[in-house]
Amino acid sequence: MDIPFEDYSRENKFLLPVAIKQFREVFGLSNDDDQERFLNGFEARFAKFNFSEYAIAVNSGTTALELSLNALGVKKGDEVILPSYTYIATGLSVMNLNAIPVFADIDKDTWTISPGSIRKNITSKTRAIIAVHIHGNPCAMKDIMEISRKHRLPVIEDASHAHGAEYDGIKVGNFGVGCFSCYTNKNFGCFGNAGLITVNNKLLYKAILGLIKVSNDPAGPLSHRTPCRMGLFEAAFLNAKLPFLGEINEKMVYLASLYKKKISAFFNVQKSEKNAKNVYRDFVILTKDRVRLEVFLRKKGIIAKSRYRSPLHKMPYFRGFVNPAARLPVTDEVSEAALALPIPLFLSGEEIDRICCTLRKFVSLHA
Ligand SMILES: Cc1ncc(COP(=O)(O)O)c(C=O)c1O
Repeated sequence: MDIPFEDYSRENKFLLPVAIKQFREVFGLSNDDDQERFLNGFEARFAKFNFSEYAIAVNSGTTALELSLNALGVKKGDEVILPSYTYIATGLSVMNLNAIPVFADIDKDTWTISPGSIRKNITSKTRAIIAVHIHGNPCAMKDIMEISRKHRLPVIEDASHAHGAEYDGIKVGNFGVGCFSCYTNKNFGCFGNAGLITVNNKLLYKAILGLIKVSNDPAGPLSHRTPCRMGLFEAAFLNAKLPFLGEINEKMVYLASLYKKKISAFFNVQKSEKNAKNVYRDFVILTKDRVRLEVFLRKKGIIAKSRYRSPLHKMPYFRGFVNPAARLPVTDEVSEAALALPIPLFLSGEEIDRICCTLRKFVSLHA
């Protein structure tokens, strides 16, 4: 039988009875206030899960990033430092505010933004840093927060892959402003787009709400509001999923540990900071022979994917912002070689054995 990269229907099946209960509750909400209370209830539950003061439920991870940058005062012409090894939305959130993305390199072991490279890219125009916990792996937050304090630069954590991941025993999304995507393919995904912001600062919380909740109040703030609250059915589904998120993450950690045991002698795999807990939204290996390996696996019924074929600094859309003299050697190396292996929640130990045997066979054939 084939091993799919993902199968959302199978992964979410166990949630159907609890989700239906939640959907019924939404059908029973008779007015705007009740609907708002329902959403606020979900926000409070996620904030509690994350040990954050506040959570704000929005319609996507991109929106979460954009609102956070906006509320922090990032505007046209400001520079924002971010990694280039990430999903395009991290960069677009900066561009959407007419700010300038400045790409930093990543660390060769963790593949997260390198604090040394952040330091090198700080200028008088820098207004914020976005740290992406890529594939679920927490960034070097101690060093990043030191830079933040020294240069008075706010940090946004793009925790889209990392709901429940920890650094120094603290859940990500509590160091700076936490931005989470809850798109289908995340550990805490729903069906389609949704996102969350976590904040521990009341003023910032109010500033973000101020960008979302705009009314016909002549004395109110002028805002370029676009509707961006999370839908009630997405919140209902995530309400049903939240109590299982810890278990889901543990299962991902377990599956990743099986992979690591069997193939880290043959392939480079992502490493974590010693005090970090990766939640493995992806399990990624590096291979110099990516296309051939992907085809080889596919022929054996195993679907692997290279998620970010191109780092952002090589995409035409961002080219105008890239300093031609700047080099991102680790980003280039990882982007060219990264291949995500299947790690759906239901994967069995036997299936991991089969994948790893196939990988080793490939190595022996092409050594
Ligand atoms: C690292 C990263 N940042 C931001 C986003 C954007 O999230 P969304 O698709 O919910 O807008 C994603 C989505 O996959 C992502 O992977």
